[in-house]
Formats: sequence, structure tokens, C-alpha cells
Amino acid sequence: MLNIALPKGRLGETVYDLFERAGFECPSIREKSRKLIFENEKTGVRYFWVKPSDVPIYVERGAADLGVAGKDIILEYAPDVYELLDLGLGKCRMAVAAKKDFHDDGTKTLRVATKFPNIASDYYEGIGREIELIKLNGSIELAPILGLSDVIVDIVETGTTLRENNLEVKAEILPISARLIANKSSFRFADREIGLITEKMKELVTAND
Ligand code: PRP
Repeated sequence: MLNIALPKGRLGETVYDLFERAGFECPSIREKSRKLIFENEKTGVRYFWVKPSDVPIYVERGAADLGVAGKDIILEYAPDVYELLDLGLGKCRMAVAAKKDFHDDGTKTLRVATKFPNIASDYYEGIGREIELIKLNGSIELAPILGLSDVIVDIVETGTTLRENNLEVKAEILPISARLIANKSSFRFADREIGLITEKMKELVTAND
């Protein structure tokens, strides 16, 4: 059995569709239930729904052989795993955003609210800007509106959340998409199965381009 950690939520369904089209179906996963683990002996796969930011932990520690995680999560947590394939799904970007009338004149330490402290620090270190990090866990857009921070570093997908809160992108940091990742020792010992899944998914992803 190959253990596969899928990110629970919007992205997870699309990701499972791709595994299914690649020939690794597990029909029980489509039944409405609160179960978290699903397996299909015929195709030799066991899927489980994991909080997206936890996927790299399961894969790094070998509880999952394979998993799918956003590039944002991979960069933030830097897990010791192999990144096998860009699935081209869940495309969005990491960006700096602020109130429309905010201009950084560089005179004061910049207050940055984010769920991604490592990505934010690396970015500002790269441009030599001194910052104070404010780590939040969600609804990051509130921070500049309430004066908790000057800017945010966050994911922008459609841009609707920013627009509806009168914020705008001030700088793009990097593009994000979902990646197939593998546990390092599984990659050695289950190389045939993992190689097959990766190849099949690569064909589908390339055909979609
Ligand atoms: C993410 C992100 C933005 C929003 C961007 O939040 O943090 O708030 O999506 O999407 P949009 O550009 O399409 O509006 P998420 O839904 O993951 O919830 P969170 O606020 O709890 O982080």
C-alpha cells in the first residue's frame, strides 16, 4: 500500500481527481462522510485528508509516502522531502499587500503581518529592509485595516479578498502551485510505484498545459 496525504479542502478534491485519472482511483473517497482514511487494495493506494500545512510533516516523517502541498507550505517549512512534480493546480501568488494609500518611505521598521514568517523574512532580507514580524494564523487582511501592521505577506488567488477590503498588491514575491512530494526513503524503496504515479501524473499535467 502506498500512503498518500491529500490536502483537505478546495485543492484536495482537484488533486484527488488527478490521482484518479492517473489510474489510482479509490471510489470510497467520494462518498459523503467524515472519514479521513480511504483505501483501495486493487490499486494499492491509501489516501488520507490532512490539514494542508501538515502534509509535509506526514511525508517527511514517513507516515505518508507521497503528498501534495503548495509551494508556499514547502518554502515556509522547508521539509526534508523530494519535490517530484509541479501539478500546475492551485495556482496563486505570494505577495505584499497594504492599504491603497500606504507608501513605504523606508524611515521606520516595517510591520509585516503574515502566516508565512520565513517567506516574509527571506523576502525582506533579500531587499535589505528591516521589519518587525507579526505572526497571525488567518484573516491576515484585517491587520493593516486595524493598524496592527503596515503590510501583509499573504497568498493572493483571485484578488477578491484584497479588493473587498480596500487593499492592493504592492509587490509580487513568487508564484505558487501544488507540488507532488515524496518521503526520501519511500522514494528509494518504492521507486517503481512512485515512479509510475509520477510519470502518469506528469503526462496528465503536460497534456493540460
Ligand atoms: C487565503 C489567503 C487570502 C485569500 C486569497 O485565505 O490568506 O485571505 O485566500 O484569496 P483570493 O485572492 O481569491 O481572495 P484562506 O481562504 O486560506 O483563509 P485564511 O484567511 O484563514 O488564511
